[in-house]
Amino acid sequence: MTTNLFTPINLSGQYLKNRLVVAPMCQYSSSNGEPSAWHRRHLGTLALSGAGMLMIESTAVSMKGRISSKDLVLENDDQVIAFSNLLKEIKTLSDIPISLQISHAGRKGSVNVPWEKNGTSLDKYQSGWETVSASSIARDKGWQKPRQMNIDEINKTVNDFELTTKKACLAGFQGVEVHMAHGYLLHQFLSPISNKRKDQFGGDFLNRCRFPLQVIEKVREVLPREKILGVRLTGDDCLNGGWTINDCIRLAHKLKTLGVSYLCISSGGILPITKLKFGPCYQVHLAEKVKSAVQIPVRTAGMITTPKQANDIIKNGKADMVALGRQFIRDPWFAIRAANELSERFIMPNQYKRCLP
Ligand SMILES: Cc1cc2nc3c(=O)[nH]c(=O)nc-3n(C[C@H](O)[C@H](O)[C@H](O)COP(=O)(O)O)c2cc1C
Repeated sequence: MTTNLFTPINLSGQYLKNRLVVAPMCQYSSSNGEPSAWHRRHLGTLALSGAGMLMIESTAVSMKGRISSKDLVLENDDQVIAFSNLLKEIKTLSDIPISLQISHAGRKGSVNVPWEKNGTSLDKYQSGWETVSASSIARDKGWQKPRQMNIDEINKTVNDFELTTKKACLAGFQGVEVHMAHGYLLHQFLSPISNKRKDQFGGDFLNRCRFPLQVIEKVREVLPREKILGVRLTGDDCLNGGWTINDCIRLAHKLKTLGVSYLCISSGGILPITKLKFGPCYQVHLAEKVKSAVQIPVRTAGMITTPKQANDIIKNGKADMVALGRQFIRDPWFAIRAANELSERFIMPNQYKRCLP
């Protein structure tokens, strides 16, 4: 039997009942880092979607690691309780596996939420905070110039990822996904565009990977074996002098050796520009290259909007999972439509059984 979108997949011993994943999507709607009523409503709906896995948005490992002041954060006990309450509520609605994306924004931090003043940089002397990065290079005009992290700060941040992982387990998550893409801190260390350091954390490929690999080592150490460890990784900066797909494949081999359960191959974000052309399924070729080079489950995302597109990606062996972001917001019943189109059995919530086909 050929594998399709509704074939279960095993990640670190946990089965996802299908290969559709709700992509992580920042809501910029928390206070004190804690999930809000908005998160309960938004994630409750998506938990009923029938997807195989629900990713919770980029959650900062420390207050200084936030993108905006409205980001989720998981660094203290109040936040553990708030996340735990959120998960308890969602789990009364659905048994969907839920994983938390954990991140540090680095030089992309201290900005307004996207719908206020166009998400522009906050002044560090007013309501913003000082940002840090691999090197003291601003992302672009109008962005805060970050301070280069010293070794103590790098060590402390490894520790923050470790502590947040422990807290995610306490709160009841089935996994964590470390964010190494979209121009955030770990990507800032990987990419030669943003990393011009002269010490053991900069320069050649291995030095640039050192800090992200230390994070994964620590996270895997404290994450129980049966929990899912994902990495969202940049496939290609698609810029002259940037991170390339060959770098990505090289790092993917190392991440696999460290016990990562799957990789989600993304792109862009290190600068506001990219040479990658946007269009339907625009990142699938990157996932396909990683999948054919490294024996590890690979997820793809990016403008996948129809059941046929999603199913073809899996059927043709281009990726092992497909994440949808905006389409799941536009159509929370996408998985049901996909099941109907592909003549697959779909378990509806009992309460809705008389309402939908
Ligand atoms: C509102 C919004 C918030 C997002 N937040 C995150 C995030 O927290 N973490 C992340 O890795 N990607 C984030 N993304 C990117 C999505 O996960 C996804 O990769 C992207 O939207 C492309 O997929 P799509 O065309 O299916 O939406 C976000 C995208 C949107 C639209």
